[in-house]
Amino acid sequence: MKVQDMTTAGYQAKKDDEFRKAIVDGVKTESGGVKQEMDAYKDLTAEQVNSLIAMIRSFKK
Ligand code: HEM
Repeated sequence: MKVQDMTTAGYQAKKDDEFRKAIVDGVKTESGGVKQEMDAYKDLTAEQVNSLIAMIRSFKK
């Protein structure tokens, strides 16, 4: 498993909706032969998901 650096400008350029989709639906991709999977968190309320997105935004350098 390889996770991205959430502090970079490139990462922070992503849209809130991309983050929302990853959190709610999970992630199942592959990059350079390395599987990148994250479980879905379907039970979170919209408010909880928004709080997580705000947390990710706070990582911006
Ligand atoms: C508070 C908990 C977490 C939040 C808010 C979160 C959020 C996210 C988001 C928004 C993405 C998509 C990034 C994109 O659009 O490219 C992502 C990707 C990913 N997450 Fe999580 N995640 C959490 C916990 C975890 C945990 C516990 C794991 C594994 C044990 C994990 C593994 C991954 C992987 C492998 C990816 C795909 C690669 C990447 O984009 O970095 N995540 N996560």
